[in-house]
Amino acid sequence: MNKDLTMEQGYVRKPKFYGVGVGPGDSRLLTLRAVEVLQECQVIAIPRSKMERESIAWEIAKPHCPEGAKILELEMPMTSDQGVLQAAWEKAAKAVMGEINQGNSVAFLTLGDPSFYSTYTYLLNILKENLDPEQIETVPGITAMSAAAARVNLPLAIGDEPLLVIPGTGSLAEYRKFPNLVLMKASRNLDEILKVVHKGEVEGILATRVGQERENIRFLNKNEELEKVDYLTLVLLKHKS
Ligand SMILES: C[S@@+](CC[C@H](N)C(=O)[O-])C[C@H]1O[C@@H](n2cnc3c(N)ncnc32)[C@H](O)[C@@H]1O
Repeated sequence: MNKDLTMEQGYVRKPKFYGVGVGPGDSRLLTLRAVEVLQECQVIAIPRSKMERESIAWEIAKPHCPEGAKILELEMPMTSDQGVLQAAWEKAAKAVMGEINQGNSVAFLTLGDPSFYSTYTYLLNILKENLDPEQIETVPGITAMSAAAARVNLPLAIGDEPLLVIPGTGSLAEYRKFPNLVLMKASRNLDEILKVVHKGEVEGILATRVGQERENIRFLNKNEELEKVDYLTLVLLKHKS
């Protein structure tokens, strides 16, 4: 692998930091640019929570990475404690800068799209203070919601319809007549989601681990009862109007 500090067309290319969207699960759903970047980078940075046995983003990207690429594991704890999170992002940024200062370009893997509810943004905000703008590139990826809609051959939205994405917990009462809802992190808001589904006014799709080995995608019926679902689950709700 060539280091980016080599002379190229008469000027020195600085090493770069890339946020690479690897899509939701299927290794064929990466963009050509994502594959190009993975093949060129000397270091592949993998965000990992302590609880995770395997990194899903790495499993997706692995077939596209050259053998011998250095793997940099960055611990990203699953907590809402801002102090713990900030410390983890700063530690991760330091590790990335350590590689860049040695002339290595770093690809940070993100499930789905890096600009869509990803820890990449927090890391990027710190790195922006240390890098020149031309040293940063965000490579978009296919979001889990796009992949889920595609798997059931339904549009997320059409014509003049709005689309609302709700990323957390809380009451959905005021949104239940909205034409198109995407409920991210659905495992944390199942009771509220079921209240909407039970009214029978929506077409609901529950999508777990889209594109991955344990993929489970199904339509939710009016009498649906769900006790627990995987963290990697989203729900699409379309109002029947
Ligand atoms: C932190 S967000 C990451 C979103 C991601 N950046 C994207 O572009 O889709 C995590 C949430 O995304 C959804 N998600 C991510 N990957 C998924 C997949 N393969 N199948 C279903 N939902 C997924 C789940 O709702 C999960 O709780």
